[in-house]
Amino acid sequence: IDMCRADVDCEYFFSVDVEVVLKNEDTLKILIEHNKMFIAPMMNKPGRLWTNFWGALSADGYYARSEDYVDIVQGRRVGIWNVPYVSLVYLVRADVLRSELKAADLFQSPTLDPDMAFCSKVRDQGVFMYVTNMYNFGRVLNTENYQTKHLHNDLWQIFENPVDWEERYIHENYSKIMKDDVVQNPCPDVYWFPIFTEVACRHLIEEMENYGQWSGGGNVDTRIQGGYENVPTIDIHMNQINFQKEWHKFLLEYVAPVTEKMFPGYYTRAQFDLAFVVRYKPDEQPLLRPHHDASTFTINVALNQVGVDFQGGGSRFLRYNCSVQATKQGWALMHPGRLTHYHEGLRTTAGTRYIAVSFVDP
Ligand SMILES: *[C@@H]1O[C@H](CO)[C@@H](O)[C@H](O)[C@H]1NC(C)=O
Ligand SMILES: *[C@@H]1O[C@H](CO)[C@@H](O)[C@H](O)[C@H]1NC(C)=O
Repeated sequence: IDMCRADVDCEYFFSVDVEVVLKNEDTLKILIEHNKMFIAPMMNKPGRLWTNFWGALSADGYYARSEDYVDIVQGRRVGIWNVPYVSLVYLVRADVLRSELKAADLFQSPTLDPDMAFCSKVRDQGVFMYVTNMYNFGRVLNTENYQTKHLHNDLWQIFENPVDWEERYIHENYSKIMKDDVVQNPCPDVYWFPIFTEVACRHLIEEMENYGQWSGGGNVDTRIQGGYENVPTIDIHMNQINFQKEWHKFLLEYVAPVTEKMFPGYYTRAQFDLAFVVRYKPDEQPLLRPHHDASTFTINVALNQVGVDFQGGGSRFLRYNCSVQATKQGWALMHPGRLTHYHEGLRTTAGTRYIAVSFVDP
């Protein structure tokens, strides 16, 4: 604000806090065209009534709900509204910062938080604050419970910020699955569809490599019930990185609908005991001998690129002598786990191949 006040060429001051997800590229143009001293684009938390403005004040100067607040938030009343409090994102005319709002202590108060102190002083100077809900501008993130103990903490945001999680991690063509013929059928009862973005794949690999405690690939495995793994792989389980709740939510939201479309009449709650990332390398574990999975159906997502990150790899279903070799990063293979779909992991001949595997409804 001081820099804008001091610079004669500064015409507007635009403030954007970190939890604001600004989606409308015309926001500045729209706000300037409204021609107000002080105006904010209305934004809310998706699916909630929480916004960056208050419709009214209580007697002691705190939040009070105005009679039209819900209608404005939900877009039943549309316009430009004079309000007593805005936060997170707003545009102020610089000449106002040099005149009405020239006080140095705009954000200070013995009793009020900085945001409330600011709005209180703006009101006291007779500067009307407006909020507009005439366009969609974006949304506000939930950041209260954001974890910072992982490498890619956004992966854990599927519950708190599902819209942003989907935008970042779900493949852009996933949404076409229900409408178009996006799902491929490379082998009998084996379905293949886009699910993860390249970023999701990279984050999951990096998260696992950062955790680093890959299993030794032996039959003795204390991580599982019974302690014995018949067909061991070099892997890290989702629960080792505390990701099982989030992974379950992902399976439920994004995989279960595809399962139910491709295997009509089968309904799944996407239960799993085992979900993990497997690492195949020529000098470590290059392949996996034929086996059945302990699942009703299995999801196998290719996390990196054949021909770039590794050579070889893929899955072969022995009963049909059918292989899926040109695996595609971010695409999931879905197949029945037992009886008909006896399968093997084909040899990775160079580089490192990563897949995310889930044994659903064991
Ligand atoms: C999504 O599908 C379109 C049309 O088939 C294709 O051009 C595009 O590359 C696909 N996106 C990705 C990320 O693969
Ligand atoms: C399996 O398929 C491969 C390649 O498609 C073929 O060369 C081979 O002869 C087939 N094996 C059997 C037993 O059909």
